[in-house]
Amino acid sequence: IPICARFSRPVTELSSAFDGSGDLARRFPPGFRWGVATAAYQIEGAVTADGRGASIWDTFSRQPGRTRDGHTGDMACDHYHRWAADLRLMAGLGLDDYRFSVAWPRVRPTGDGPVNHAGLDFYDRLTDGLLEHGITPVPTLYHWDLPQPLEDRGGWLNRDTAYRFAEYADAVAERLADRVGLWITLNEPAVVMAYGYAFGLHAPGRTLMLDALPTAHHQLLAHGLAVGALRGHGARRIAIANHYIPAWPAGESAEDVAAAGAFDALINRLFTEPILLGRYPEVPGLGTGAPGAGAGRAVLDAPVVRDGDLKVISAPIDALGVNYYQPNVVAAAENGPLPFDIRPVRGHPTTGTGWPVVPGALRDLLLDLQRRYGGALPPIHITENGCSYDERLDDTDRVAFLDAHLRAVREAMDEGVDVRGYYVWSLLDNFEWAEGYHARFGLVHVDYQTQRRTPRASYAWYRDFIAAHRAG
Ligand code: NOJ
Repeated sequence: IPICARFSRPVTELSSAFDGSGDLARRFPPGFRWGVATAAYQIEGAVTADGRGASIWDTFSRQPGRTRDGHTGDMACDHYHRWAADLRLMAGLGLDDYRFSVAWPRVRPTGDGPVNHAGLDFYDRLTDGLLEHGITPVPTLYHWDLPQPLEDRGGWLNRDTAYRFAEYADAVAERLADRVGLWITLNEPAVVMAYGYAFGLHAPGRTLMLDALPTAHHQLLAHGLAVGALRGHGARRIAIANHYIPAWPAGESAEDVAAAGAFDALINRLFTEPILLGRYPEVPGLGTGAPGAGAGRAVLDAPVVRDGDLKVISAPIDALGVNYYQPNVVAAAENGPLPFDIRPVRGHPTTGTGWPVVPGALRDLLLDLQRRYGGALPPIHITENGCSYDERLDDTDRVAFLDAHLRAVREAMDEGVDVRGYYVWSLLDNFEWAEGYHARFGLVHVDYQTQRRTPRASYAWYRDFIAAHRAG
């Protein structure tokens, strides 16, 4: 694959060239933020504590066959009760930032009823605890745990959900805004649309294919309305965390190239351009089964998009969150409702979950964002990057993965991309959605029988890396 030719060497070879030897030239710029990321449903457990309501993930994970071995987030890492110990683990890493998510069903259990102050108290305590350890709180307002009563009324297919989200954002900001460093409105709205509403692999498990598109608009509207609510409480720095999947055409044919373009528009540009440019991208031939054919058509339009919506959605943000894991190979669709087929990426090492390890695609993605959006692009934060491996404690593969991806980030920065932070997914092994507890992404191993936490080799490595690369 041409764009990644320079990274087609084994990942271990790459990491040896980026050994963090303390060379001053290799330190990151002053103010660069080092962090880790987690999400409420994946770590908290305590799903009925202190008045929490049900979310779509409580419902979905209890349905037979939805998650591997029927795993649920009922217990997860029990972080709701063990947060103080987890905070000490973060402090041991020397972090600047901790990206966590606030559970909407703890704060407003029915989605639109009264605010549950006991639920907010948890995040209040966590926020103060972080600050006491010198770590800046970076809360995400929506990391996939929609209150079930809102899903019963259509969830993200219903425009009303955007307004309920803004009210919830207002309640959280009222409590936390004086202490938050960076707000993240939504996590990976593309994955919510695709996995949650198009393919049915995540909650709420709908299989609407292209009819899931309105969920993109309603999430983006929710983002824009929340930006307004947060600013109303004096929030200084606001971002969205998007999932970016570089799309590699399977071959050189015009059809494959067009299919990769359609994938890029529907997954990446759809959640970037309304925010940065105030308009939806076009996908030629969308809905006709032949991308590339016919006139371009905006991915979303009236009646879903109403007058004034794009103005709300394009309210200025202060950073763009980039979650990166892997590229996809995309081919022309043989048949079916989508304008592309997804093929396996070959010729690269893979993680424990079989995902291709391609750090160069992160570098190229960052350069692409810069090239495409230029002056409209705010500073970038890598809000998630990480990998799952089966190793217990001596996770040399994870170290090589992180090392190589940081090198890729550094290269993009050297070529002029303004990257201001990097967060590892994740601090702890946790509930990996449909994979349940089978995929382990943590710098810290969790024994789910005892809830014992044991730092892996990568924990010490990241601690040392931060210390060696923080500007003096
Ligand atoms: C992105 C999601 O935001 C996070 O919840 C998930 O665990 C990681 N990717 C790994 O799949």
